[in-house]
Amino acid sequence: MISFRNVSKSYGQNVAVRDLSFHIERGEFIVLIGASGAGKTTVLQLLHHEIFPTSGVVTVGEYSSDTIRTSAIARLRRKLGFVHQDFRLIRDRSVFENVAIAMRVVGTPRRVIGKRVKEVLAEVGLLRRARDRVAELSGGEQQRVAIARALVNRPYILLADEPTGNLDPDTAAEIYALLDRANLGGTAVLLATHDRELIRRSKHRVLKLAEGMLVPGDFSAGAIRGDEGVRTGF
Ligand SMILES: Nc1ncnc2c1ncn2[C@@H]1O[C@H](COP(=O)(O)OP(=O)(O)OP(=O)(O)O)[C@@H](O)[C@H]1O
Ligand SMILES: [Mg+2]
Repeated sequence: MISFRNVSKSYGQNVAVRDLSFHIERGEFIVLIGASGAGKTTVLQLLHHEIFPTSGVVTVGEYSSDTIRTSAIARLRRKLGFVHQDFRLIRDRSVFENVAIAMRVVGTPRRVIGKRVKEVLAEVGLLRRARDRVAELSGGEQQRVAIARALVNRPYILLADEPTGNLDPDTAAEIYALLDRANLGGTAVLLATHDRELIRRSKHRVLKLAEGMLVPGDFSAGAIRGDEGVRTGF
């Protein structure tokens, strides 16, 4: 469903990712790890078609970075949900509004919006907070709103860029559980994270980047148990 074929992205002399090749299958959950500056955000931005490869091709479903038209990028993004570390919500609007916006911008009829937003808020455990302003919520709750917004249009992939970076360990675990649940519902997930505890507990495929390149080997929890730290490079 998703593939990177010999993808490099440079900014002048600075190479953000170098000759990346990998596939993500429909419904897969991938954890993307690597030190600061390794290229994790760049990978997510390439998938989101915010930036384009300097060489190589990124394919998402029927769309490819070398042939996609500007008019198709908006259509592609409807199939992608993006969750940022810093939430990016409208703080003085309600929880409901923040999620509904994602449906309004794609022209969904009002009655469909009302029903679906409630459904997705229930999934993330925030239905009772629907009328509250986002500014009144805790960090973990705000991140749940951001996840609800990312899921509301039923994307086939959820891109999450260090969504637990600003949260305490228990709240981070809750957010991770939500991503897992979305994945069980059929949404592919690509989670970029530094969170050692999540990586240690994760049962998913782990891709490790170092200086923009994929590090060969198996970094999943099963493979690193007993000698974690060494293998994950933390
Ligand atoms: N817009 C840009 N202009 C110039 N260099 C950039 C730009 N975006 C990223 N880079 C460079 O590309 C490299 C990879 O950056 P990226 O943001 O993908 O790393 P990251 O793994 O997400 O790091 P972090 O964990 O700190 O978020 C870094 O060396 C960064 O300086
Ligand atoms: Mg980053």
